[in-house]
Amino acid sequence: MSSLTRSKRFSTGSEALALFIGLSNATSRRWGPCSPCRYNSTTSTDTFTIEGKSYPKDSWHNLPPNITFYISRRLHTTKDHPISITRSIIESRFPSPTYKYHNKFFPIVTTHQNFDSLGFPLDHPGRSKTDTYYINSSTVLRTHTSAHQADTFRLNASEGFLISADVYRRDAIDRSHYPIFHQMEGARMWDRRTVPNGDIAAAVWADIERLPKHDMKVEDPNPPTHAERNPLQKEHRREEAEAIAAHLKRSLEGVVVEIFTRAKRAALAADPGFRDEPLRVRWIEAYFPFTSPSWELEVFWQGDWLEVLGCGVVKQSLFTNAGVPDQLGWAFGIGLERIAMLLFEIPDIRLFWSKDPRFLDQFKGVSDNFNNLRKFVPVSKYPACYKDVAFWLKSSSSAAGGGGKEMEFHENDIMEIVRDVAGDVAEDVRMTDSFTHPKTGRRSMCYRINYRSLERTLTNEEANEVHERVRGKLVEKLGVELR
Ligand code: PHE
Repeated sequence: MSSLTRSKRFSTGSEALALFIGLSNATSRRWGPCSPCRYNSTTSTDTFTIEGKSYPKDSWHNLPPNITFYISRRLHTTKDHPISITRSIIESRFPSPTYKYHNKFFPIVTTHQNFDSLGFPLDHPGRSKTDTYYINSSTVLRTHTSAHQADTFRLNASEGFLISADVYRRDAIDRSHYPIFHQMEGARMWDRRTVPNGDIAAAVWADIERLPKHDMKVEDPNPPTHAERNPLQKEHRREEAEAIAAHLKRSLEGVVVEIFTRAKRAALAADPGFRDEPLRVRWIEAYFPFTSPSWELEVFWQGDWLEVLGCGVVKQSLFTNAGVPDQLGWAFGIGLERIAMLLFEIPDIRLFWSKDPRFLDQFKGVSDNFNNLRKFVPVSKYPACYKDVAFWLKSSSSAAGGGGKEMEFHENDIMEIVRDVAGDVAEDVRMTDSFTHPKTGRRSMCYRINYRSLERTLTNEEANEVHERVRGKLVEKLGVELR
C-alpha cells in the first residue's frame, strides 16, 4: 500500500499527550480489559462487537484494544477539530451538488471492498497481517478510503463525490505516524450516454473551462500517458483520457492553492520572518492498481518537495463491475493529517487525539469561518526520555552451534508491543543497530524508544517502569532474548 497519503516526518519539536487525550495516565500506560462503556466495543473469545455490529473472530484477528478505543471518535466530523476543518476547506473546492459528500461510511469493511474490488493482487504486501488490522480473515479496518470507491460508483448518486473517513494501518511510531489517520477520496464521472453527442472529451473540456483558474507554477514534465510507465487504458480513446487527466490536475491544483495560501497567511501572521516563496507543484508518474495513468502531486514547501496526494484515471473494470460501464472518470486520495499539520503547524500527530482545551480551543470558530484560521501555538514542551532495548531474535532451531533459521520478524510487531504497553507516551521508536553474529548466525537488534508525554514531564522512574514492561512483553510475545 502506498504511504504517500500518510503524514511526513516533521522537524519541529513535540508536545505531549496521555491525559491530553482524556485518558488517565494509568490507562494510557496499561490498556485494561475492554469494557463496553469505555471502548464502546466488546470482544469475547469468538466475537468482536462494536457499535451494535458483531463479527466472528478467527485466527486472523489482530486488533488490539487501544485501536478499538478510537474507532468511534470521528475527528473528521467534529466541529472545529483541525481534521474536520481541513476536510471542509478541501470540500469547498468541490461544490455540491456536482460533488456529494459522504462522511459516515463505517470503518469495518470486507477484504473484497478494501483490496479485491480495486484489483489488488493476492500477494500484495498491503494485505499482510503485519500491515493491516483484521477482524477476521475476510473483514478488516479499512486501510484507505478507496475501499468505498466501487460501492459509491454503484450507488451512482451524483456526478462526483468526496469520501472522508478514518483509516487504519499498522505502522512505525514517530511524530508523523499513527495507526489511525484520515483520508479523503474524491472522484468525478462522466457518462457516455448522457454527455452531448456522446463526446466525453468535449464535455470534459467544457467542464474544465468552468473550473477556477490559478497562476501557480506547475511542473508536469511527462507526457499524459506512457506505454510502459503510465499506460492509456485500452477502453479509452487518447483524447478522453487526456481530457479527464487535465480536469483532475486542474481540480487538484486548486486544492493546493486553497490550502497553501491559507497556510502561508497563517504562518506569516505568526512569524513575519516566514520564508514567503511563490507556490510550486509538480506532477510525478505513479502506480496504483485501480487507476491508469496515475500520478502523485508534490508541493514545494519550506525547502522540501512534499507528496500530498495520489490520483489517476479510474480503471474501467471498476465501473464495469459496479454496473455503470458507460461511465469514465478520475479519482484521488489525500491524507488529512499531513495537510492539517502543515496548515496549522501542528508538530505531533498524537495531538489530534487530544481532548485538552489548550489544544482544542485554538481552533474554535474556524469551521464557520476559515479566515479565523491561525497557526497552532504549542502549549509547552516536555523533555524526551530515551531508552534502548537490545535483543537476539529467536531462531526457529536454537540448537547449539547456530545456523538455525531466524524467526519471522516484522518491525510492526515491535511497534505494536510498544504502543500496547506505553500508549501515547511512546513518541518515537527506531532501530539503531542490527547485526548477524558471524559464528552462530543469530541476529541482534537494538531499538531506541523515546518516551515523552504531551502533557507533563515523565520521571526517569516512570519511564524505566514502562520500559521494563516493554522488555517483558518483547520476550513474552516475540520470544526474543534480551541482551
Ligand atoms: N488509496 C491510495 C492510497 O491510500 C490513494 C489513491 C486514491 C490513489 C485514489 C489513486 C486514486 O495511497
